[in-house]
Amino acid sequence: MSLRVHKIKSQEFVGKEVTIRGWVHRLRKQKENSFILVRDDRGGVIQCVLPTEKASSLTVESSVEITGSVSQDSRAPEGGFEIKGKDIKIYNVAGADYPIGEFQSDELLLDKRHLTLRTRRMIAIAKIRATVLDLGRRWFIDNGWIEVTAPTIVKGAVEGGSTLFKLKYFDDEAYLSQSAQLYLEAMIFSLGPVWSLTPSFRAEKSRTVRHLAEFSHLEAEAPWVTLEDILKVQEQLVSYVIRTIVRDRAEELAYLKRDVSDLKQVEPPFERMPYEKAIDILRSRGVMVIEEYGSSREIRSGDDLSIDSERELTKDAERPMFVVGYPMAVKPFYVKEDGERKGVGLAADMLAPRGFGEITSGGLREDNIVSMTERIKSEGLNPAAYDWYLDLRRYGSVPHGGFGLGIERLLRWITNVEDIKDTVLFPRTMSRVAP
Ligand code: 4AD
Ligand code: MG
Repeated sequence: MSLRVHKIKSQEFVGKEVTIRGWVHRLRKQKENSFILVRDDRGGVIQCVLPTEKASSLTVESSVEITGSVSQDSRAPEGGFEIKGKDIKIYNVAGADYPIGEFQSDELLLDKRHLTLRTRRMIAIAKIRATVLDLGRRWFIDNGWIEVTAPTIVKGAVEGGSTLFKLKYFDDEAYLSQSAQLYLEAMIFSLGPVWSLTPSFRAEKSRTVRHLAEFSHLEAEAPWVTLEDILKVQEQLVSYVIRTIVRDRAEELAYLKRDVSDLKQVEPPFERMPYEKAIDILRSRGVMVIEEYGSSREIRSGDDLSIDSERELTKDAERPMFVVGYPMAVKPFYVKEDGERKGVGLAADMLAPRGFGEITSGGLREDNIVSMTERIKSEGLNPAAYDWYLDLRRYGSVPHGGFGLGIERLLRWITNVEDIKDTVLFPRTMSRVAP
């Protein structure tokens, strides 16, 4: 039986014979002995020493099974344990032209992503990602929310028409879903608080370090809630994920050189910054907005918050914050208007600290059919595509709300990686659909 490396690296195995399987991560052949750093199928690495005559055909990434005795030697890399190899079985001698080494361009690493995933950096990120997904699910399950799955092939836009992926659907036309929200709204009438974790698609034409064409979207919706209720759910969810990831993925975060001192301070309540105050701060710091025709002007009330504005607002913060009460004009048709302040939406975004910016959007939904129909029309959307959605306002409408969290945005902040493409295993962007 073969063992994983992390198990073997302990006193109790010293002097014992073990078998490990894995791949040649690094290789140094000397006259008598070869030093083989073997990586197992969970990314654990250990040095194996073998007579060079038995290892002569080996190349980097060859797959092997090595049997030998465990010894402790402070000179051995990766924790001071090594295997004095006796036998080796070679499954496959990897081509000598293995393209991933130390000094590749980012583009090559992305072109060969199916191989780049074997690097220890990507292994660490993949493990953190798996745990973040697990924790997101677990928070909802532990708090009594019901999981639903919404279709990803749909007829209507949720977040504006400009980022819709259109596809041929038999003899008809359909789109890839931008958000499960409208379907989650349908489910609250029979299941109460619900959540989903599904891919969302956006034909984002801008190249930024925080936009993907396909991302993992954790969304939630609940009946009879206030905006404050929805903010509380988000801050509790995010705090739970952060608190637990710092504990359960300490090794991987350390490998990525992520100093987690700021993450350790993340606990509710998060600041609720009124939109108008955010604008005042940005104006006082001279933040500019680029207009469509390329000229720039000072930011003013009514503007949406750009990546730059969000960076400015959060660059010195250690904890996430909510910006609350965006203008209706910059938010989608479903946002409910504040009954006391015309033109103000009961909508909020959560911004991650240290300049990372938006990680969630949410709020209360318009529940009145007349206003909803008007908004759909004034946004240039086809009311026929939303007839089923309008039924939710025709038959037993209730105040309700929810939010969506971008898993990769959250991961970018947790791992402190610059480019969002590195938080997903096979990224999709405007210029990349392969591998
Ligand atoms: O802000 P968005 O567009 O809001 C919605 O889709 C709502 N319908 C969600 C809801 O209320 N159920 O997207 C929600 C979150 C963003 O805050 C961001 O974290 C992430 O999804 N997101 C993206 N992540 C990566 N790449 C993109 N192109 C993203 N667009 C949105
Ligand atoms: Mg948003």
